[in-house]
Amino acid sequence: MTGTAVGTHTVVAEWPDAVTTELRPKPPTAGAAGKHLPSPAEPTTPVAPGAPWTDDPYAHALRTGRGPLFLRRLSHSDRPDGFGVEHTLPLDVERWCAPADAADTTVLRRCTGSVLDAGCGPGRLVAALAARGVPALGVDLSRDAVQRTRRSGGAAIRRSVFDHLPGEGRWGTVLLLDGNIGIGGDPVALLRRLRELAAPGGLLLAEAAPQDVDERLTVRVENAHGHHGRPFSWARLGTTALLSAARSAGWIQTGRWTAEGRPFVELRRPHAEHPHAQAPITERRPPS
Ligand SMILES: C[S@@+](CC[C@H](N)C(=O)[O-])C[C@H]1O[C@@H](n2cnc3c(N)ncnc32)[C@H](O)[C@@H]1O
Repeated sequence: MTGTAVGTHTVVAEWPDAVTTELRPKPPTAGAAGKHLPSPAEPTTPVAPGAPWTDDPYAHALRTGRGPLFLRRLSHSDRPDGFGVEHTLPLDVERWCAPADAADTTVLRRCTGSVLDAGCGPGRLVAALAARGVPALGVDLSRDAVQRTRRSGGAAIRRSVFDHLPGEGRWGTVLLLDGNIGIGGDPVALLRRLRELAAPGGLLLAEAAPQDVDERLTVRVENAHGHHGRPFSWARLGTTALLSAARSAGWIQTGRWTAEGRPFVELRRPHAEHPHAQAPITERRPPS
């Protein structure tokens, strides 16, 4: 992990440590500890649908630190004739709620300057960075994610990455992990937004899907009992599609690697903004 380059401690320090907008607490949904996942043919249990990622079963899973939890596909814009084989996409709640693992460490080592984790979830990366003395801030829509991040020693605010954020244009590194390229359902728009947040010369460390996919879909968060939240737009991109979207959004690729089966790319915001500038693709191993 390097401490040089862009970004300063002030981008974190200037943000008050209170959670910004608390929602009125809602009663928890039913437990997510079912023994099996419902198949597409099984009826699901309708509940009053809450806002995605906030008061749907995701909140309950974060409180308990356990799944099973998954995204259920409701549409597949690329395949109007059907959904394909995967009707549900598992969400790795247990791993997200655990300390940073070996694959996460390959990301942490590449961080430079102050770090913004976009869609930080329960905040294992933010907490690991804080423990190493690296200024880091998580941003997430979910109150439970923000609370869990703060309980584990990290700083986090409850906000959308598309809203105004502290330190815009000054973050040394922005993280986009664990499928978060799907946020908003429009990867190029998301990557453009993240480029605004990074400092000139700053990094985006992003995780791609392990499969060679490029999908826009409508999903909802659902637990093993069929409790679910509202539908929302999502996307899944493998490395090729992610790199293509990143080029369209003005990022330069400076690295790519795989750790524990998880593909990552390192992208850099150009120092001078040339909309069509591209660097040669470089393959490199994670620093030891
Ligand atoms: C697939 S989960 C990834 C979780 C996370 N990276 C982790 O380590 O646990 C997506 C996360 O992004 C958050 N999220 C979704 N849309 C968001 C938005 N527009 N702005 C900020 N966070 C968002 C969700 O609340 C959720 O915590």
